Amino acid sequence: MARIELCKTADVDEGTAIRVESGDLVLAVFNLNGAFYVTDDTCTHGPGSLSEGPIMGDNVECDFHNGVFNIKTGEVVEPPCMIPIKTYQTFVDGDAVFIEI
Ligand code: FES
Repeated sequence: MARIELCKTADVDEGTAIRVESGDLVLAVFNLNGAFYVTDDTCTHGPGSLSEGPIMGDNVECDFHNGVFNIKTGEVVEPPCMIPIKTYQTFVDGDAVFIEI
């Protein structure tokens, strides 16, 4: 298991997301009511970047074809995407956001 620091908590405003690249990973870091969640950034349906999509509750809409994913579970909420988005075990330590992979 490796622990990777992605960003500072202050980098992601509540109700928003940022795109973070770490090694081969391209990730979206979400702040939902002060809790942090990380998914792959690239939509499973195409080139959409989930960190740029509108966030509605626990869901994010891909701004490419309007597919919707649950940020916490990665499940598809609305097509056209069919494949869940990968989620990462995420935690905060001090002022930084980490994933464990
Ligand atoms: Fe995301 Fe098509 S690229 S819904």
